[in-house]
Amino acid sequence: MPTDPAAPRAPVAAGPGAPWDAARAFALVSDDVVRRYDVAGPRYTSYPTVPEWSADFGADEYGGALAEAGAGAPDTPLSLYVHLPFCRELCAYCGCNVVVGRDAAYVARYLDAVDRELALAAERLGRRRRLCQVHLGGGTPTFLDEVQLARLWEAITRSFTPEPGAEIALEAHPAVTRNEQLDLLARLGFNRLSMGVQDLDPTVQEAVRRRQDVERIRGLLEHAREVGFTGVNFDLIYGLPHQTPESWRRTLEKVVEMRPDRLAIYSFAYVPEVRPHQRRLSAEAIPFGMARMELLRGAHEVLGGAGYAAIGMDHFAVPSDDLSRAAADGTLTRNFMGYVSAAAPEIVAFGITGISDVGGVYAQGHRGLGPWFQAIEEGRLPTSRGLRLTPDDHRRRRIIADLMCRFEADLGEGGEDAFAEELEDLARPDLAPLVDVRGARLSLTPLGHLFVRNVAMVFDAHLRVRQREGGRAAFSRTV
Ligand SMILES: C[S@@+](CC[C@H](N)C(=O)[O-])C[C@H]1O[C@@H](n2cnc3c(N)ncnc32)[C@H](O)[C@@H]1O
Ligand code: SF4
Repeated sequence: MPTDPAAPRAPVAAGPGAPWDAARAFALVSDDVVRRYDVAGPRYTSYPTVPEWSADFGADEYGGALAEAGAGAPDTPLSLYVHLPFCRELCAYCGCNVVVGRDAAYVARYLDAVDRELALAAERLGRRRRLCQVHLGGGTPTFLDEVQLARLWEAITRSFTPEPGAEIALEAHPAVTRNEQLDLLARLGFNRLSMGVQDLDPTVQEAVRRRQDVERIRGLLEHAREVGFTGVNFDLIYGLPHQTPESWRRTLEKVVEMRPDRLAIYSFAYVPEVRPHQRRLSAEAIPFGMARMELLRGAHEVLGGAGYAAIGMDHFAVPSDDLSRAAADGTLTRNFMGYVSAAAPEIVAFGITGISDVGGVYAQGHRGLGPWFQAIEEGRLPTSRGLRLTPDDHRRRRIIADLMCRFEADLGEGGEDAFAEELEDLARPDLAPLVDVRGARLSLTPLGHLFVRNVAMVFDAHLRVRQREGGRAAFSRTV
C-alpha cells in the first residue's frame, strides 16, 4: 500500500478552488443520479469536437494555417505529436487508431512518409521550428525497434529543434517494451514515459485479450527511472468486462505499490458501432451505470488514500509531480494527449489520424494508410478534415477547457447575456445540482466534478444544433 510515509491519507484534489471532497461527492451518487447523467457525450479533448469538422477543409487550408502560424510567431515553441499506429496484437477493448501485424518493411515505409510529412509542414512553418514538447503516441511506439526509433528521431530533429528542457514523451505497451529501447530513448533525450497497464486481474486480462505481468511492468518502471525518465505515467481503464470492485481494488493496490508518478484512469469507451472489434467482448460482463461509478469511487479511495491528488476528470499524480503543480497553480491544460502541464498552446501532428491545433485551425490527417501514403508521396499534406475556429468557438473552447481543467469558469464580460440560454439550462432541476452560478462565474459542486462532461455539453453550441436537428455522433457515455 502507501510507500510514502509523508503522503496525506485523505483524498485530495489539486486545483485552485477549495479542495474537492471525493467522499462527499460519491455519497450523493445513487442509481437515480447515475441514470440522470449517463448520456453519450464528448470527452472534450477539443472544442469544437471532431465530428463537427469538415471534409471541405483540406491540405490548402491547413498549409495556409501553418504558414500564418509560422510568420506570426516565428520564435514561439510548438508541441509535436507523431502517431505510430502499429501494435503486435489488437486488445479487444481498444478505441485507438491502430494497425496490427505489419512487418519491418511496412514500418520503414511509414517512417519514410512521416519524414516527408515533417519536411512538408516545416517548409510551411518557415523559421518556426522550436519544440517545447514531443509526444510519440499510438498504437504502440515501442513496436519500433532501436534502429527505427533512432530513424524517427533523426527525422524529427532534422525538421524541428527541441529546446533544452523540452518534455519528450512516448507511450509504451509493457509486453512489447525492452530495457534496450528505453536505454536508447534516454540517450536520444526522451524523459517521459507512459505505460498501458489497464488492469492486472487475470480474468479481466483474458476477457480483453491483453495479458501482461506485474513483474515486467515493475522492472520497466524501475529501469526507466534509472536511465532518467521522470513523471512516469500508468494508464488504467475502469468499466472493463468482469471487473468487480474487489478485483479492481487489487489492481489499484498493486499499482500503488509500484508508485508511478501519474495515473490516467479512463472510463472504458464502449463504442462497438465505431470499433466493431469491441463486439467480441461480452456486453453482459461490462459494468455500466452505478457499477461503474463504484469502480471510480474505488479508484479515488485507493489512490487518494495513497497520497495521489485527483487531477481534472480522470488523472491522478503524486503532489510533487508537474501535473499536480499545474493543477494547483491553474496552468493545467487539456488537449488530444489528455491533461498536460508542458504543452505549447499549438500542436503540429504527424502520422495517420494525427490532429494538429495551430494557427486557429484544427486539422486531421487521413485515417486510411492508402490515402495518407498517396498524399505524402505526391508531396501534399495528408489532411482529411478540419475546421477554422470562429470567435464564438474560441470563447466556448476556453469556457469548456476551464471547466474540464479547473472545474470553474468565468463567462467574461457580457457573459450573462451572451450565454443566457446556457444559464437557463444550468438552472434546470437536473443540472442545478452540478454547478453554482454567481453572475457570470460558474463553479462545479462536488457532484458536478463527477459529471463535468454534462456541464461542458451545455456550452457546446455545435452539439446543441446537432441535437435540435435530431442528428447524433458516436460518443462514449459520460459515466
Ligand atoms: C495508445 S494506448 C497506450 C500505449 C500502448 N498501446 C498500450 O496499450 O499500452 C492509449 C491508452 O488509451 C486507453 N484506451 C484504449 N482504448 C480505450 C477505450 N476503449 N476506452 C478507454 N480507454 C482506452 C488505454 O488506457 C491505453 O493505454
Ligand atoms: S490498447 Fe494499446 S496495444 Fe492495445 S490495441 Fe490499443 S493501442 Fe494497441
